[in-house]
Amino acid sequence: MEYTVMLPAAGSGRRMGAGENKLFLPLGGLPILIRTLGVFERDPACRQIILAVRSDERGRIRGMLSGAGITKVTAMPDGGQERQDSVHACVRAFMEAGGQDDSVVMVHDAARPFISPKVIGELAATAAEHGAAIAAVRAKDTVKQVRDGLVQSTPDREELWLVQTPQAFRAGLLAEAESRAEADGFLGTDESMLVERSGHPVRIVESTYDNVKMTTKEDLAIGEVLLKRLEEEKE
Ligand code: C5P
Repeated sequence: MEYTVMLPAAGSGRRMGAGENKLFLPLGGLPILIRTLGVFERDPACRQIILAVRSDERGRIRGMLSGAGITKVTAMPDGGQERQDSVHACVRAFMEAGGQDDSVVMVHDAARPFISPKVIGELAATAAEHGAAIAAVRAKDTVKQVRDGLVQSTPDREELWLVQTPQAFRAGLLAEAESRAEADGFLGTDESMLVERSGHPVRIVESTYDNVKMTTKEDLAIGEVLLKRLEEEKE
């Protein structure tokens, strides 16, 4: 199933403490951003990549793309203050370029380079059929809801899933959910929340625990280990 991927890449990387966009940090010698882009560049079902960037980083990123042979980036809109704003900029760019409501779009954090091509394929197929599908893994730990340092409740672990990206949607459904969130001043922590608000059911596609987001220095160390394991598996 063909799809367009939208990658918000306009964060600051404050929690990484790198002093620059964390996506420029090397993972196994290649910038995290290039590793994530490479997954989609190599996937024949990915028609195009829309990348939200900070305007002062556009030139540097352009140079990185051509140096790494990344050819599928068709638009690089300015990102926004919040991640949701950056995704919104991608959706607008997609629609302005004549994107169709029923085509499949997928939002993926540029900071998650270990997404599996198999999960991407399942997400695209599920979103095409049902409208909305998100990558998630089962919670391994018991989760408590806590307020002011006091445990309020313990949700049934069988029903708890930890949500990742990609999150895949029919484009019209995502665009409408985003417009509604914007009109209401609602800020979600993922795109699914916006679609959930609009009442459309969202399906889970089981992903892998490898699909970690490079957020802190510890994640980068885990990333190096994952990369080594993947390279050994290839040999
Ligand atoms: O900060 P966090 O790791 O949650 O960001 C997830 C993704 O969203 C990263 O790829 C980051 O570059 C992107 N982002 C963005 N615009 C923002 C904040 C984050 O594109 N304002």
